[in-house]
Amino acid sequence: MQHKRKLVFVCSGSDCKKSGGKALRKELKENFKHGEFKGQCKLISTKCLDMCKTAPVVIVGDHFCKHATIQKIITQLKKS
Ligand code: FES
Repeated sequence: MQHKRKLVFVCSGSDCKKSGGKALRKELKENFKHGEFKGQCKLISTKCLDMCKTAPVVIVGDHFCKHATIQKIITQLKKS
């Protein structure tokens, strides 16, 4: 199935939350609602992705962003 919107999976497991995943998710949500990616991305929360040592973990398309920051995710979104 082809998606028009890019899928962004944010881990909402406890280690990722502790490492800033919660704030990151909030920031992404805001950006996808009002920022430059408005209407282009779909944010999905996942359970633990079993990569807790590299928390917070975000998947953009088929790319894993380890130690994810908003900048890393935006760069990846622009590439994909
Ligand atoms: S809590 Fe996010 S990968 Fe485990």
